[in-house]
Amino acid sequence: MEFHVYENARAACEAAGVLIAAQITRKGDSVLGLATGSTPIPAYEMLTQWYDRGVIDFDRVRTFNLDEYVGIDHKNPLSYHAFMQEHLFSKVNLRPENVHLPSGNGAADAEAYDKAIHGAGGIDIQLLGIGRNGHIGFNEPADDFTYGTHVVTLTADTIEANARFFKSADEVPRQAVSMGIGNIMAAKCVVLVATGENKAKAVYDTIRGPITPRVPASVLQLHPCCVILTDREAGKLMLEE
Ligand code: PGA
Repeated sequence: MEFHVYENARAACEAAGVLIAAQITRKGDSVLGLATGSTPIPAYEMLTQWYDRGVIDFDRVRTFNLDEYVGIDHKNPLSYHAFMQEHLFSKVNLRPENVHLPSGNGAADAEAYDKAIHGAGGIDIQLLGIGRNGHIGFNEPADDFTYGTHVVTLTADTIEANARFFKSADEVPRQAVSMGIGNIMAAKCVVLVATGENKAKAVYDTIRGPITPRVPASVLQLHPCCVILTDREAGKLMLEE
């Protein structure tokens, strides 16, 4: 596991953008695993800028997102479909048929999503944020690690953390579809970005704690190519060692 601390959040996120751009440069038909949330936005801004300047081309790139809320229309501005349209898909030359997100229809489409990832040859590089509780891609703390795409019930902590995007916590969907820990672990390379002091404990437990489904990100200790990028606040407990 590789761990780098940056002076500020923007630099940590842009470094993730560098790794994704390098992947696209190395392999034009790369399969990207993408994340939503506040953390990856600067990475998408960097990728958009490099696309505008002709440095990278998304014409043959394929993408799979980590998760989507259950029961939220894709056109709803708070859906992850809409988030990706706004921050990346509408700004670069990704072909609509090459972008994939879990449908949000619940369990019915889960198996098809696993098959689509597999059919694309697996994910080359997976971008991740992390929840304050150590979740990755809405794989919440649990008794077991999940394998494939599945429906998750969001924890109270996640609902509270995501309430900032909605009018109130009551409006946050209670369930989501996540691609599962198994699909994340099968990615050839994983880049996790964490910023802000409220992620410091999750980062420390991910890197130094026992590997446990109670801290889902801790499983990344077993990944052969995992990079964790943080700002000083999220890396604080690691720096204090
Ligand atoms: P955030 O979410 O980037 O909005 O903090 C990360 C996550 O919950 O995985």
